Amino acid sequence: MSYFQRHIFFCLNQRENGEASCAQHDAQAGFEHCKSRVKQLGLAGKDGVRVNKAGCLDRCAGGPVAVVYPDAVWYTYVDQSDIDEIVESHLKNGQVVERLVLPDNVGR
Ligand code: FES
Repeated sequence: MSYFQRHIFFCLNQRENGEASCAQHDAQAGFEHCKSRVKQLGLAGKDGVRVNKAGCLDRCAGGPVAVVYPDAVWYTYVDQSDIDEIVESHLKNGQVVERLVLPDNVGR
């Protein structure tokens, strides 16, 4: 059994050279919203959910991206309602939000 039941990592990488990066899509706001929703719902902590910042996850073309482990499910999201759905459906209930899953062929 792992320490956390689910662990979500948000890429917050910012590039100054004009190349795509998740920070251009307000990834920070998505991360902060997720963290507060997980806390509000009492999901945070051991045997629960952990929300972490990450640097580039190498799938920049699909940004902003986040990945949930141990399920290894990759998401792209647009707004807070997308984050709410990921939290409620996947992080809380273990159901993947298919409409937000990042296609396998999206890379850097
Ligand atoms: S900048 Fe976010 S995955 Fe690369």
